[in-house]
Amino acid sequence: MTTMTDSAASTWPPKDTFSIIVLFAALSVVYYVGSKIYDVYFGPLSEFPGPKLSAFSVLPSLSSLFTGDDAVYVPELHAKYGPVVRTSPDHLSFANGAAGFKEIYGFGKKGLYKDPQFYGVPLNKVHSIITADDANHSRQRKILSHAFSDRALKDQEPLLKRWVELMRDKLLESAEAGKPADMLKFYNCTTFDIMGDLTFAESLQMLEGSDYSPWVKVIFAGVKTGTRLRAFKIYSKITNYLVENLLFKSEVVRKKQWEHWNYSKERVDRRLARTPDRPDLWTKILERGSGPDGLSVPEHHSIASLFMIAGTETTATALSGTTYQLLTNPDTLALLQKEIRTAFSSFDDMGLESLAKQKYLMAVLQEGLRMYPPVPSELPRVVPAGGAVICGQWVPGGTKVGVHHLATYRNEELFRKPYEFHPERWLGDPEFKDDKLDAMEAFSVGPRNCLGKNLAWHEMRLLMATVVLHFDMKLCEESKGWNDQKVFTLWEKKPLMATLTPAKA
Ligand code: HEM
Repeated sequence: MTTMTDSAASTWPPKDTFSIIVLFAALSVVYYVGSKIYDVYFGPLSEFPGPKLSAFSVLPSLSSLFTGDDAVYVPELHAKYGPVVRTSPDHLSFANGAAGFKEIYGFGKKGLYKDPQFYGVPLNKVHSIITADDANHSRQRKILSHAFSDRALKDQEPLLKRWVELMRDKLLESAEAGKPADMLKFYNCTTFDIMGDLTFAESLQMLEGSDYSPWVKVIFAGVKTGTRLRAFKIYSKITNYLVENLLFKSEVVRKKQWEHWNYSKERVDRRLARTPDRPDLWTKILERGSGPDGLSVPEHHSIASLFMIAGTETTATALSGTTYQLLTNPDTLALLQKEIRTAFSSFDDMGLESLAKQKYLMAVLQEGLRMYPPVPSELPRVVPAGGAVICGQWVPGGTKVGVHHLATYRNEELFRKPYEFHPERWLGDPEFKDDKLDAMEAFSVGPRNCLGKNLAWHEMRLLMATVVLHFDMKLCEESKGWNDQKVFTLWEKKPLMATLTPAKA
């Protein structure tokens, strides 16, 4: 008679290939689960609070990325677990205000570098300022910053005013025809036309047709797909391989990508081949950027392509978010109208310098950026191999870290009534005396902060003041709750419909 022990003894050690594979697979699973459990409870990041499931698996955070729920998911995690949260096995999210910004993005940043999984390389494989390594970044930044100096931007005042005047005229046409206006589209058309003129010295003719061009539509459509593909790539080496090698290398996708790239490249080449009769950004860039330390032609292509995204949708987003808040806070809108209509009697009166002195306008736009930051999530950095101390805690090498903008701006420890629109908090109102205003850094900080910050401010003030000077506005029924949106790297925006009536002189 064969006993249980006899039978086990006869199959151990396994001799056939199938049994060996099964044994190997079982041991691998045990090892994987064991090391995961060790990492969750005893690993170097186990000290940081957060859901155990997120410490165990990347899936909860990838699911919020994929579904666009990041705007709700991460602020909720911070509300529950505090200012620093482990959001996935190798990822820490910060919502602790100025300290987090300074230590992750500031000068002397402890060797932290941009997460290559987040920052894609341009199609021509030549890095622009946003993805360049430190040496190339500082070379490019030195050249480009001349085009964004106060003096250089002042020279662009006539160009900016010309485009904004056209926006005003188009809004007037729409108001006189009794048609509601999609404010989001008008802001986007204006910022794209401005940036096309500043970058290529050519018009994209979007305001003219009051619609997005096919090229811009492709940019917008690409943001959501790109975010979802990123989630897919992060999931595993296999999914990463599939996206990189099967999808991105497929004939159809390559053709579409190059068609899109060439639209911008051809315009850059045309611009480089001539001298326009008035200054644009490239006038200054070429003054400084020629010679051995200058920019190569492929760098010009990559940088122009970056400007057309970084310098357009962001500003239009800030303006549409702020406009929505004004439309839903009529008392605030009335105060802003009073300030602008007292300071300026006509569009011709408005200048970049005089607009910068309008305190309530500034406060409204700051609060708009806080409520609805154009870069709502985080810009991830990777801790270098030796690890680094961040905000007093040691973080091992390879960990991804970042300040989550929205979670920071919705943190009650930093801002009183964070979900309400109160420009007064920026003007010293005693009710908000404990607010940590330096926790709001929509343009980021440090050596890689926004190069176009001053240009963005000029545009935001000029566009917003023009709309408020010329029109009374009312939110259309269909746009109620407009700001309840998903986030796919950027906000997934819907049309912002408003009825405009020309303001009485
Ligand atoms: C409200 C509007 C804007 C917001 C909120 C904004 C925000 C930001 C942020 C957060 C960064 C840091 C990116 C990172 O760390 O990877 C950035 C970088 C950058 N932005 Fe903006 N931006 C705005 C408008 C503009 C405009 C109008 C331009 C003009 C071209 C521009 C050009 C750039 C460039 C070139 C960089 C890269 C800088 C570097 O790496 O040194 N941005 N922006």
